[in-house]
Amino acid sequence: MTFDNIIEFRRSNRKFEPEAHIPAEVMEKALKHASLAPNSSNMQLWEFHWINSDQIKEQVVKGCLNQSAARTAQEMVVFVTRRDLWRRRVAWHKSLIDQDEKKLGIGVKSIKMRRLYYQKLMPISYINDGLGIFGLYRRLLSFSIGLFRPIYRAAGHAQQRITVHKSCALAAENFMLSMASQDFHTCPMEGFDAKRIKKILKLPRGAEINMIISCGKGTDSGFWGPRRRVPMDEVVIKH
Ligand SMILES: Cc1cc2nc3c(=O)[nH]c(=O)nc-3n(C[C@H](O)[C@H](O)[C@H](O)COP(=O)(O)O)c2cc1C
Repeated sequence: MTFDNIIEFRRSNRKFEPEAHIPAEVMEKALKHASLAPNSSNMQLWEFHWINSDQIKEQVVKGCLNQSAARTAQEMVVFVTRRDLWRRRVAWHKSLIDQDEKKLGIGVKSIKMRRLYYQKLMPISYINDGLGIFGLYRRLLSFSIGLFRPIYRAAGHAQQRITVHKSCALAAENFMLSMASQDFHTCPMEGFDAKRIKKILKLPRGAEINMIISCGKGTDSGFWGPRRRVPMDEVVIKH
């Protein structure tokens, strides 16, 4: 398929063929493609929960309010944000920086910059004290510096949530386009009971469900009408 074909093919389908099977390799490839999505600071604060057990699937379908895209799905993947894993990701980056430093030698500028970014800047961006004091400090700092020059307006908890959800949604789109390129349909869903899904998947407090994607061979009746979009001149604004 050309890229145009893939974009045309990917449409939300809400009624999948009951007998069609998705080979595990198709799912694995699409999940790999999901992990290659662009993401903020390459922190990869996401998880892709591929539902394999029939028992868990049954519960997840109920958690998705029993909607038909979930009920008829052959496979389901829950896209989860993991803002809470930032320390683990910083440690992962640090180990890569250490390895590169051993190879390239101490004092290499690009390595110094990466160390500064991951070991100083990332903690400043992700640390939270629970009271919002650190967030206020970050906001004041960027406000004061921002009076004199352009600066990234780091803020608190809400900003961090937006950041991880943006990246996770890009992974979800990579996943859906990859499934389309392999001749399978998907349906992204946000119509679910997040609290119940988190409980079913035994997710910690810091995790959040971004979206749940149902997959299968779509049917004609699974497309709800023609694909409609508002005119381009309403959404593309030239400056
Ligand atoms: C974040 C998000 C949440 C969605 N939630 C649901 C949902 O719960 N149930 C559903 O049937 N479709 C859901 N959709 C699918 C949209 O309705 C669909 O993408 C939109 O109508 C455009 O159609 P298309 O995907 O075929 O291009 C969701 C899509 C997105 C991106």
